[in-house]
Amino acid sequence: MIPKLLIEDNEIDLTDYTKVVAIVDKDVHKLHGAFLHKHFKDIIFIKSKEKRKNIDNIVPILKSLTDRNLDRNSCLVAIGGGVIGDITGFMASIYMRGIDFIQIPTTYMAMCDHIIGKVAISNVKKNVFGSFYSPKRTYIFKTFIKTLPQKLINQGFAEVLKNYFIINNKELKKIIMKEKIKTEDLIEAVKISHEIKSFFVKEDPRDTKGLHKALSYGHTFANAIEKIDQNINHGEAVLKGMILAAKLSYQLGLLKEKEFLEHMNICEKLERKFDAKIKIERYNIDNMLQSFKTDKLSCGGKMKFVLLTKIGKYEIIEVEEEQVKTLLLRECENDA
Ligand SMILES: NC(=O)c1ccc[n+]([C@@H]2O[C@H](COP(=O)([O-])OP(=O)(O)OC[C@H]3O[C@@H](n4cnc5c(N)ncnc54)[C@H](O)[C@@H]3O)[C@@H](O)[C@H]2O)c1
Repeated sequence: MIPKLLIEDNEIDLTDYTKVVAIVDKDVHKLHGAFLHKHFKDIIFIKSKEKRKNIDNIVPILKSLTDRNLDRNSCLVAIGGGVIGDITGFMASIYMRGIDFIQIPTTYMAMCDHIIGKVAISNVKKNVFGSFYSPKRTYIFKTFIKTLPQKLINQGFAEVLKNYFIINNKELKKIIMKEKIKTEDLIEAVKISHEIKSFFVKEDPRDTKGLHKALSYGHTFANAIEKIDQNINHGEAVLKGMILAAKLSYQLGLLKEKEFLEHMNICEKLERKFDAKIKIERYNIDNMLQSFKTDKLSCGGKMKFVLLTKIGKYEIIEVEEEQVKTLLLRECENDA
């Protein structure tokens, strides 16, 4: 079932549930304590660190849910970014074989991307344990956008661009092309992103047809960059990843020049706006190639990428290592 997206709906409907526990990012609590205490009585605070998205951290929280006697008609509410969303959703998916959870995303990334479909935690490897599990409802409150640093807004906006490149949604394009992107535009982009992600989840709920792979446009490159350089901002890595994916699409003759230039124009505009320019000349090319071979899209050591044949039309294509190497070497020359 596709969860409802409720925008600025101050009534958080919890009437269906015997018990409700809010799982809240400690830092969000510091900024939005009054909001949280107005709506929730029972709150568990968690530090939102990527390394906390881990089974060892989750077991004590699950135990505390049993101490609270949560039953099958209880509900967890995730209030934070993607880390809190993943931890809460994962716990909801396994507690008593699955109880409801509600999302109140507070980062722009979580508002755009962590709204539907799946939840995962990381042990050994990022997002290796997880479930296909959607929240019952998602509430979007502008108040959280107001306290977000620009860098965190950029992260989510890179995912908005990705949605445009794979779907070619005209309304999204209008927002992307605006000189000044206001809070209302950000919210509108959340609504459209929700519709796009809902389409994929409705068509292919458990990703058995492989449709969700489209949502990883640019991410094979981004994952490699993030693996090598842990200080990099995810949104910037995704932006650079989409630039490299478009260049590879063009190099292979899949994407025509006009569309390629349009794609580059949009990405470069965002790079300037967000003062984001990742230079891959700093990275070891062999390490990047190795990472592509073990990416979730690839299999048997072959490299696969989501590439564009048009804006709004993608294919998953196996690419020879030499071609990818040529792309990376050219990019290093450009960066130097
Ligand atoms: N399951 C999915 O579909 C899905 C989709 C996208 C991302 N994710 C996961 O989400 C995680 C990344 O999420 P994220 O980017 O939201 O990071 P995050 O949850 O770590 O939050 C980033 C930072 O923002 C702070 N923050 C949160 N809300 C704030 C606010 N309103 N004002 C000021 N600061 C605020 C947090 O305290 C934290 O320091 C990754 O683990 C990724 O794998 C999952």
